[in-house]
Amino acid sequence: MVVPETQDKMYYPPEDLQRDAHVPDFNSYLALYRKSLDNPEAFWKDIADEFFWKKPATGPMLQYNFDVTKGSIYVKCMEGAKTNMCYNVLDRHVREGNLGDKVAYYWEGNSPDRHETITYRQLLSQVCRCANVLKQMGVKKGDRVSIYLPMIPELVYTMLACARIGAIHSVVFAGFSSESLCERIMDAQSSVLVTADGVFRGEKLINLKQIADEALQKCREKDSCSVTKCVVVKHHVLRTRSGAACNKLQTPWDAEYDVWWDEAMTDSPEECEPEWLDAEDPLFILYTSGSTGKPKGVLHAVAGYLLYTSLTFKYVFDHHHDDVFWCTADIGWITGHSYITYGPLANGATSVLFEGIPVHPHVGRFWEIIEKYRVSKFYTAPTAIRLLMKYGREPLQKYDLSSLRILGTVGEPINPEAWQWYHEAVGQGRCPVVDTFWQTETGGHVLAPLPAATPLKPGSATFPFFGVEPTILNEHGEELEGEAEGYLVFRRPWPGIMRSVYRNHERFENTYFKKFPGFYVTGDGCRRDKDGYYWITGRIDDMLNVSGHLMSTAEVEAALAQHPSVAEAAAVSRPHTVKGECLYCFVTLKDSREFNRTLEEELKRLVREKIGPIATPDFIQNAPALPKTRSGKIMRRILRQIARNDHDLGDLSTLADPKVVEVLFSQRREAAA
Ligand code: WT7
Repeated sequence: MVVPETQDKMYYPPEDLQRDAHVPDFNSYLALYRKSLDNPEAFWKDIADEFFWKKPATGPMLQYNFDVTKGSIYVKCMEGAKTNMCYNVLDRHVREGNLGDKVAYYWEGNSPDRHETITYRQLLSQVCRCANVLKQMGVKKGDRVSIYLPMIPELVYTMLACARIGAIHSVVFAGFSSESLCERIMDAQSSVLVTADGVFRGEKLINLKQIADEALQKCREKDSCSVTKCVVVKHHVLRTRSGAACNKLQTPWDAEYDVWWDEAMTDSPEECEPEWLDAEDPLFILYTSGSTGKPKGVLHAVAGYLLYTSLTFKYVFDHHHDDVFWCTADIGWITGHSYITYGPLANGATSVLFEGIPVHPHVGRFWEIIEKYRVSKFYTAPTAIRLLMKYGREPLQKYDLSSLRILGTVGEPINPEAWQWYHEAVGQGRCPVVDTFWQTETGGHVLAPLPAATPLKPGSATFPFFGVEPTILNEHGEELEGEAEGYLVFRRPWPGIMRSVYRNHERFENTYFKKFPGFYVTGDGCRRDKDGYYWITGRIDDMLNVSGHLMSTAEVEAALAQHPSVAEAAAVSRPHTVKGECLYCFVTLKDSREFNRTLEEELKRLVREKIGPIATPDFIQNAPALPKTRSGKIMRRILRQIARNDHDLGDLSTLADPKVVEVLFSQRREAAA
């Protein structure tokens, strides 16, 4: 890697940003990057020195085996050390750092007249009280707590309370269905569930407690239910109710299990000694889609995740004390875990915690919030940018966006038009756009520019972060040098990489390490250009990315197949101008069943119920038969081409019955169902 010399259109870091940046130019990046690979021990030791360790490490900063042929896969960071995540992100600032009165979060509700300010001292106090509530319920180190909450302060309180007492949190995105919640509770075997009465998402009131109850009921039907207590935040009733809407909400109650959050918290003491954990003890589980359809419980460990989220936050957003940071993701996804909860708090940062959606009550909501809190670093997803682009520049012009210094994107490849608009219309041409590539599994950014150091090419996540060694392999596992395209893999771990799939280490090894021994396989395709820039080309497995949410075609197919009229289903991805990709589904019906509008609606509803609204198919096509190989395997490549109306089908010789394809083309759906 050298300082790039290229004919491509490049965007160079603004000088005023470079003046006080942590990494002020490309040569500094290169030097630090070299150090991080050549001497990882010294590199990570320096970072660890900023944190509190009850006991120092006895082992090296990083130890690992990445080669399945040589034994079990493992990664260990700072073995022997004792610490506590919550102590490091809160007590350290309040007790040692004098940041007690600094704002940790500006909470902004779904409705613009609802907001709260939470300082580090207040946050610590709420977290300790919540920790004592959990302890009182019998939650101990290593126990799992499922959290099904909207974007409200209690979500952060509960996560950090778990971290404080050594319980493992499993946050489930509050847009998931009762079925998905049930599956995640059963896999984690959680003893406590924390939820809320209800929440407005835009205009829509959602009865979360009812969904949570349905999930617990499903757990009981399938097996015995591990949950013994359900803590319910009175969010809707106490914070957001307005007139008639409140009366519509009935909160189902079971006195044996259910406890109101505010009642439990009232007498709970503010003192709670942190549980001193081993560096490698688990911090949390977060479920992510797997290509087999069953979600994987991605497991992260305390010390490595602390070091990595903290450092990536500091460098990639060039964090400074007076910044106001805003990540628009939901904490139900890894982006929120790493860059709303842990990374910013580890740095003593001030963040916006936003409950609402970009277009409620008007399409300028994001820009209004940026002006209101003087946001300096803004982090969102390409799908949100594309959505807001549709409304043009007018909504932006009503607000003062001069506080912005750095813009970030995450979740999927960003198309050049969206990048340009983000840079020009939102950033007014003066803010670098950091395109951050990473995964639930990686814990934090693994490919990303540093805003004052890296010349940008729109659409490229540029270069590896410190400690990360990417390479590109071909189908045979051979490494490709220079300009190349193939599988994106990593040759060695960094502190924040996942440690296992919860209760299924074998699945961890099979999913990420089996295909190319010696490498962690991301599942993404990637191109390296002549200047060494990395460009993510998208998933190369049976996964798709709808509005930045990864899902597997298998889980959608499994949901469709549950309909009594469906004999067989196949789901593929089709490009979508706002969502990036969307679901196009083919269904073969059982004999004598008729394909009509009602069935279409039923099928869409079924997928929503089984997985959640984000997985609602855009297209459902009747398929008298599916294209299959002679051995009976569905040829998804062909279905993808039909969905895209791409007639350039190439070799069809492996197809059992080529006529099937013509029929499917003739019945193709153009307009969304
Ligand atoms: C997958 C991971 C990491 C937080 C959000 C998603 C895609 C993510 C980018 C990017 C191109 C990206 C990849 C990856 N992805 N960021 N900047 N450019 N693609 O987390 O649900 O674990 O999904 O999202 O395909 O593998 P996730």
